[in-house]
Amino acid sequence: MACRKDTLLLVALLSFVTFYVRAKVDIDMDDTVSVYRGDPAELHCRYSFSEEPSMMMVQWFVKYPNGSRERISYRDLTIERVDEGTDYTDRITVAGDSNSETLTVLTVKLSDEREFFCQVNGMAAGNGERKTHLAVFDPPEAPVIEGVHSGISVSSHLLSKIASCEARKGYPRPNITWYRDETPLIPINGEINVVTLVTREASGFYTVQSELQYKITKEDKDALFSCKVSYFVPGDVRTSASQDINITVHYPTTNVELWRELPKGLVKEGDTVEIRCQGDGNPPPPYTFNREQQPEIELDSTNGQLVLHEVTRRDSGVYQCRTLDLDTEEDVVGNMHLTVHYLDPAVVVPKDSEVMSKGESLTATCNALSSLNTSTVWFKDDREIGRGHMLFLEDATFDTAGEYVCEVSVPTLAGFQSTGSVHIIVQGVPKIKDAENVDMEERAGKWVNLSCEARGYPRPIIAWSIYGTQSWREVLNRVTEDSVQSLVTLKVTSDITAICNATNDMGVETKTHSIKSMSMVTPAAKFQEGSGIIIVIIIICILLLAILGSVLYFLYKKGKLPCGRSGKQEIINVYSTAEKPNKEDIVVEMKAEKTEEAVLLKGVNGDKKPMNDQYIDLRK
Ligand SMILES: *[C@@H]1O[C@H](CO)[C@@H](O)[C@H](O)[C@H]1NC(C)=O
Ligand SMILES: *[C@@H]1O[C@H](CO)[C@@H](O)[C@H](O)[C@H]1NC(C)=O
Ligand SMILES: *[C@@H]1O[C@H](CO)[C@@H](O)[C@H](O)[C@H]1NC(C)=O
Ligand SMILES: *[C@@H]1O[C@H](CO)[C@@H](O)[C@H](O)[C@H]1NC(C)=O
Ligand SMILES: *[C@@H]1O[C@H](CO)[C@@H](O)[C@H](O)[C@H]1NC(C)=O
Ligand SMILES: *[C@@H]1O[C@H](CO)[C@@H](O)[C@H](O)[C@H]1NC(C)=O
Repeated sequence: MACRKDTLLLVALLSFVTFYVRAKVDIDMDDTVSVYRGDPAELHCRYSFSEEPSMMMVQWFVKYPNGSRERISYRDLTIERVDEGTDYTDRITVAGDSNSETLTVLTVKLSDEREFFCQVNGMAAGNGERKTHLAVFDPPEAPVIEGVHSGISVSSHLLSKIASCEARKGYPRPNITWYRDETPLIPINGEINVVTLVTREASGFYTVQSELQYKITKEDKDALFSCKVSYFVPGDVRTSASQDINITVHYPTTNVELWRELPKGLVKEGDTVEIRCQGDGNPPPPYTFNREQQPEIELDSTNGQLVLHEVTRRDSGVYQCRTLDLDTEEDVVGNMHLTVHYLDPAVVVPKDSEVMSKGESLTATCNALSSLNTSTVWFKDDREIGRGHMLFLEDATFDTAGEYVCEVSVPTLAGFQSTGSVHIIVQGVPKIKDAENVDMEERAGKWVNLSCEARGYPRPIIAWSIYGTQSWREVLNRVTEDSVQSLVTLKVTSDITAICNATNDMGVETKTHSIKSMSMVTPAAKFQEGSGIIIVIIIICILLLAILGSVLYFLYKKGKLPCGRSGKQEIINVYSTAEKPNKEDIVVEMKAEKTEEAVLLKGVNGDKKPMNDQYIDLRK
């Protein structure tokens, strides 16, 4: 302390001397020295005397914010030292020579931002003082942006807070600027406002908070906002950008759209239809559905989706989706037309079934009412037989009979079809298949099958009349709607005549099978060439005897034969079919006339088994 007082006194004295002596000192210093916090700072003080000083000292001072100055180091020609008890005592070094001195602040603190004075005293050689401003820098942390989470409504008439941004711990004070899609947002009255809050911490750091207030529009829903912090560094200005954020913009619904989600393509009866409604507002408002003709009836829907199950043609029409915008209180409506196509059951004329006579013609029609163009195909026995809604049946035969199915389909709508059918019956006299009479030969004792198959409507009845054997029976009788097949099996005992009668209301057809019985022993004996004349003579003798016997037998029998033959004929007629009234009359007449004789003959021919001639009615 004593020393310090001495120097002060000396300084005063030197100054006084200098005032009178015209010698002077030039001092050169940087105006500003810029360093990052924590780095060392070198402050140079260069000086030169116009006259060589006999004695000289260099002192460094600092100036505090309260205006007071304090010396922090001292040097003269003999000593050099850092002043004790100051803020800088342990943090500075000084080094110098005859015309310069360097003060080094080892670790710069924010509080070191101040002026440093270098005072040079050379007594008579002159005095001087210059200063350097020490500027300290510390970049802030990266800016942190925080958008407003809740949706922002465009209907608000005031500026809305969009986001806030914070840049912490910077020195000197950083600035925050706002960007929308890379375009800077310059505050404009009534549209953009930026509220900035700067806090200085005790440590000297600045923290800057900025809030963007903005007049939001619908276009901002896709905009990206960001903030940038700009700060000084030694010799430069740097910036650091925040993340981009988006914001939720709420805007009213001005338009709603309706569309059919399902099914794709045309809609037909029975389909499930799904209709969706979407508006251009955010957030999506609740939607209600109704039909145009019944605006007061609200249809059941969920989240803008209307589902109609198993639609019918009555569901065709205009559907509406509406929503009430709460801001504007306006009803917004969307429309959609739904067409449900239909195809009614096919109607066939004639209905159900129709009876035709053989040779007749008929036109059948098949129609199904539809909202679309249809095409008709006719089938019989699963085979396509015609196209178009009319079917011409000409010159009917038994083959014409059957089930006719018409299929009406809609070419433009796959799977949409309906069918109808008509049953055609062809009425006619029985027709026997392979009706030509059959003549055949068969070995005696063999069993033979005879078949008789007839078509006709009403279905014919087959009756067999079999002469020449008793051993026969029917083994098969198969009927369809318009046909009948009968199979009899019989034993060939003698020549046989089997008559198959096919009868219905319209008439009768017969087929006769004649079977010639052949002897069990083959008449053609096998001769051996070398058996000799003896055998020939024996045969001739036997033949002569046989001829003689035959002649005698003929002569003996001659008077009796004609009566037996006629009797047999009448018996057959007695058993003629009862179906034919005309014939029956005749038969009855014959019976009346010949009853006695028939009875007699029966007795006479008792050994001839009259039951042979019975007829069997095969009607079912
Ligand atoms: C001015 O401030 C310094 C350091 O902060 C202090 O040492 C000094 O006593 C103050 N002077 C006055 C007059 O308050
Ligand atoms: C911050 O803004 C002020 C006022 O506009 C300006 O003077 C200063 O240079 C800016 N600082 C930075 C680091 O950009
Ligand atoms: C906003 O950003 C988030 C995340 O980046 C994204 O999932 C969302 O879709 C964005 N919203 C809009 C409206 O762009
Ligand atoms: C239906 O058919 C008629 C006549 O062939 C034709 O003029 C019309 O365009 C068709 N309609 C449709 C919807 O195909
Ligand atoms: C006759 O028909 C019956 C029954 O169909 C059959 O069992 C038999 O083998 C047939 N006989 C002849 C000789 O065809
Ligand atoms: C079979 O038909 C013929 C010809 O119509 C008739 O003469 C005969 O009596 C019929 N026989 C039977 C058994 O119906």
